[in-house]
Amino acid sequence: MQVNPSETRGALSIAACNSGKSFAERIIRELNIIARNEADEHRYDLHNVEEVVFPNGEVKVVIHEFIRGDDFYIIQCMDDPLSERTINDNLMALITAIHAAYQSDPDHITAVIPQFPYSRQERRKTREAISAKIVAQLIENAGAQRVLTLDIHAEAIQGFFNYTKLEDMHASGEMVDCVLNKLKLDLSKLIVTGPDVGSAEKARHYSKKLGVNFAIVDKARDYSKPGQVESMRLVGDVRGKNILIVDDMIATGGTLLHAAKLLKDNGAEDIYVAVSLPFFNGDAVERIEKAYQEGLIKLIIGTDAVFWGESFVRNTEWYAEVSVAPLFARVIYNINKKRSVSQLLR
Ligand code: R5P
Repeated sequence: MQVNPSETRGALSIAACNSGKSFAERIIRELNIIARNEADEHRYDLHNVEEVVFPNGEVKVVIHEFIRGDDFYIIQCMDDPLSERTINDNLMALITAIHAAYQSDPDHITAVIPQFPYSRQERRKTREAISAKIVAQLIENAGAQRVLTLDIHAEAIQGFFNYTKLEDMHASGEMVDCVLNKLKLDLSKLIVTGPDVGSAEKARHYSKKLGVNFAIVDKARDYSKPGQVESMRLVGDVRGKNILIVDDMIATGGTLLHAAKLLKDNGAEDIYVAVSLPFFNGDAVERIEKAYQEGLIKLIIGTDAVFWGESFVRNTEWYAEVSVAPLFARVIYNINKKRSVSQLLR
């Protein structure tokens, strides 16, 4: 069957900034599988886009192909462990890419950013910026009509946009599939928890999907010291149980390792972790490796929304990767074909 162009929003057209390329290639592969399965004769490929960095560090993105009238998606990953580029470099590249697209007259522009930058700065405590709002406005002002992201740290960030729509996707489907079908964990012995009260809703969601109980870890931070956890308490009984800790991100690993220690001290057995955005900043990899060797952590399941590359995944015993590229590809395809996406966003 050939897809009738009038049923679509204009040619589905995809490009990536440098740090989004690996993830974008996976999305393209999945889009072509979807197209083949739907007897859609179109074959997808990445547009030729160039990221130019000037000697003073300024960046601009140039789109070398015609995209007038297209349904255009620009993919970028802010935290790219395989490059020297910082989150700020990648954010600026994204902004110039969106604006380059805007100058090129596509019908729609969607920014595909599985990691929403500055999402932990979504409210202020003292004389400080609400940086997530500044980022939202930058993206909107550059010309994006829609943003696709993954397990955003604070859903209220949707309200920081005036006209741009933010679709928050969830890795829980892929994670639950991994727990049930790859790891085949014994559900009668499993308890789900989040490492802080902020992740309690996520823990409840996973516990419902898996049909198991959940416990709560209550974390207090000292906000005068970035990345430092002050104290933690546990609500719930975990003695003799295996644990699945769920969280949106691991940054320094401090939150996770404190929670794992608390759970172990309270009699928990094996500790598994499901994290949508495995940033592993600073010396997190070394700290987690040590925790794994000491038996504190059994396995961390992360998604390829933070792209660690094949050799890291192959050689890191405590790490398993699930891909969210098929989910992103399906959502992009459905948006382009004017089909529902609400089931896919749950
Ligand atoms: C906190 O609210 C988040 O959900 C994460 O738990 C936290 O940001 C992880 O940071 P870190 O790994 O540095 O403790």
